[in-house]
Amino acid sequence: MPAPAKSDIQAFWKSLYDSLYEDVDAGLTRADLMAALDDLEDMFRYREHLAVVEMPLAELAGKKVLEIGPGAGGHSALFAKHGARMTSVDLTNARARATEAKFRLMGAEGCHALQGDAENLPFADDSFDIVYSNGVLHHTADTEKAFAEVYRVLKPGGKAVILLYCKSSWHYWINMVLPVGILQGKLFKDRNWLGKATEWGGKNRQTVANPFTRCYTADGIRRLFQGFESLTMRKGEFYWYLVPKLGRLYRKYQIKRYGTHPGGVLVYGEPWPIQSPLELALGKIMGFAWHISARKPTR
Ligand SMILES: C[S@@+](CC[C@H](N)C(=O)[O-])C[C@H]1O[C@@H](n2cnc3c(N)ncnc32)[C@H](O)[C@@H]1O
Repeated sequence: MPAPAKSDIQAFWKSLYDSLYEDVDAGLTRADLMAALDDLEDMFRYREHLAVVEMPLAELAGKKVLEIGPGAGGHSALFAKHGARMTSVDLTNARARATEAKFRLMGAEGCHALQGDAENLPFADDSFDIVYSNGVLHHTADTEKAFAEVYRVLKPGGKAVILLYCKSSWHYWINMVLPVGILQGKLFKDRNWLGKATEWGGKNRQTVANPFTRCYTADGIRRLFQGFESLTMRKGEFYWYLVPKLGRLYRKYQIKRYGTHPGGVLVYGEPWPIQSPLELALGKIMGFAWHISARKPTR
């Protein structure tokens, strides 16, 4: 598939930002943000998310952490709250600005967000203790180049903490390949069918399509992390409500039965429908997210 133009990628993420977060961010006060960060951490702990499992929150104080693709900045703000010296780089200017605004609101000294590209990071070699990226590097055209950059800017012994989409998952095969790829025939007609099948959402009808998504097998992850050491990967994130058609009914039941968690507001623009214990267990076997950590060898 030809590489999408960076401007198309930026236009998509800007439109999704406007739709998902603009009104959440508009009225945000410092007190709201600090309370929302407590909720976010609590939600991540329930889900055993990368941001609290692979990310050593208790050891972040004073560490130089780079987040690639912070989106509206919820994860970066959480790490800043735990004392990390954050640098956050997003290709989409609106998202870099939203992240910077959160740092300023919380008075996070030494934390900054800027516009930049994962494939050409504007930092010297060996700069960061941790590079964190949640659901971003599968949306950039040259993922290998982005990983070479992650490696380059990490200090020797530094840690990469990365979430990428998982191909060996229920969501990929049952919710997307079967109904969209095969039954709707898009696998054979549209080279970007996977991009269009992922990353929908927001309060407004989407008018800009997501230009790019990749999913990875375990071997694909091992290839991307060649040169790193101490690689760990585990699956997570399974939702019945993503099953086409029937999922909508389940979502209503799920919200009635398990409720919603306010921790979703900063990162999804709305409360998160709480996963059932069964979904959490299934996520470990066939979830759509690889939670990955690896180290750059010390020389
Ligand atoms: C799915 S959102 C993830 C946002 C955030 N990490 C989160 O989990 O809430 C993807 C983000 O990656 C950014 N992005 C996409 N390609 C990028 C690239 N090459 N370099 C830096 N950021 C990129 C987009 O602008 C968007 O904000």
